Amino acid sequence: MNETLEQAKSNLPVQGFLKYKDLIIPQGEELKQAILDLKKEKNAVILAHYYQPGEIQDIADFLGDSLQLARQAKETNADMIAFCGVHFMAEAAKILNPTKKVVLPDTLAGCSLADGCSGEGLRKMREKHPNALIATYINCNAETKAESDIIVTSSNAETIINALPTDRPIIFAPDKNLGRYLSKKTGRDMILWDGSCIVHEAFSMERIAKQLADHPNAKLIAHPESETPVLDLAHFIGSTSALLDYVQKDDCQEFIIATEEGILHEMKKRAPHKTLIPALVFDESCNCSECFYMKRNTMEKLYLCMKYELPEILIDEELRLKALKPIEAMLDLSKSIK
Ligand code: 13P
Ligand code: SF4
Repeated sequence: MNETLEQAKSNLPVQGFLKYKDLIIPQGEELKQAILDLKKEKNAVILAHYYQPGEIQDIADFLGDSLQLARQAKETNADMIAFCGVHFMAEAAKILNPTKKVVLPDTLAGCSLADGCSGEGLRKMREKHPNALIATYINCNAETKAESDIIVTSSNAETIINALPTDRPIIFAPDKNLGRYLSKKTGRDMILWDGSCIVHEAFSMERIAKQLADHPNAKLIAHPESETPVLDLAHFIGSTSALLDYVQKDDCQEFIIATEEGILHEMKKRAPHKTLIPALVFDESCNCSECFYMKRNTMEKLYLCMKYELPEILIDEELRLKALKPIEAMLDLSKSIK
């Protein structure tokens, strides 16, 4: 089948590529080459988060955490950004670089934190606490960002919270676990939105304690989206990039890792001789800590989104400008962070 772009578009559902079985997609090495050819042909850049499937991480031009990816998206000269991450990350790329075409392999790559918070919800909180500043985790949609005073990511949150005026209360949304952790670290009282990450809240403190007992030389490292009992056990707590750096630089040879399992792909490259053990979750039948939203993206969908330039992230200009303000405030305050 040699279809035209118009035929292909009519073949594609609005959400995701559920009907893509009707399209011809190269496989294996040919698929990799086809993606590289499309990159050249369309002057595209592939940005990928550390939680993406390994083969997508390997083909990406730039691999990073959410802060690093936002910076890359702002700086790129490419005409098209193929964003391999979840929807709010691709949307942030479009907010920061509106003249570029931003495509996401699967628009159903969502996030439990982003889905559980809304601009309207934040407006109501502001009405209740009119003097408060709203600091919102980047894991949220554009409407939520637009109602925020400043955005944070896991790697700059502490620096930013410490920089906020002490005479103003802070509303922190949407991750209550990260908020609780930040409140403890900075000593700032926070009014917390009741949201959480379905991946990080699945870690079981009891099962991890048993893992530590079975591996007495291992260190537990955890992302601050994990719940307090897990964080209380951890030898080190940090953002995706901080966890990567820690495993690479610390003398310890064995680590139990309480964050999304995709990070192990890059960790193994950076610390090939160290033992890396995924932390256990409550569900004994699964034992996996993968974010199924992140894993909706596949090489096949990456190929299709680059070929047909769909699904494209589009955003209303008035909303974009409102959402841009707190992101720029964040970038200004986090210049010192890698
Ligand atoms: P980072 O900001 O550490 O990249 O985390 C993003 C995320 O979705 C964590 O679950
Ligand atoms: Fe969202 Fe959690 Fe997935 Fe990160 S791991 S994208 S916070 S659901």
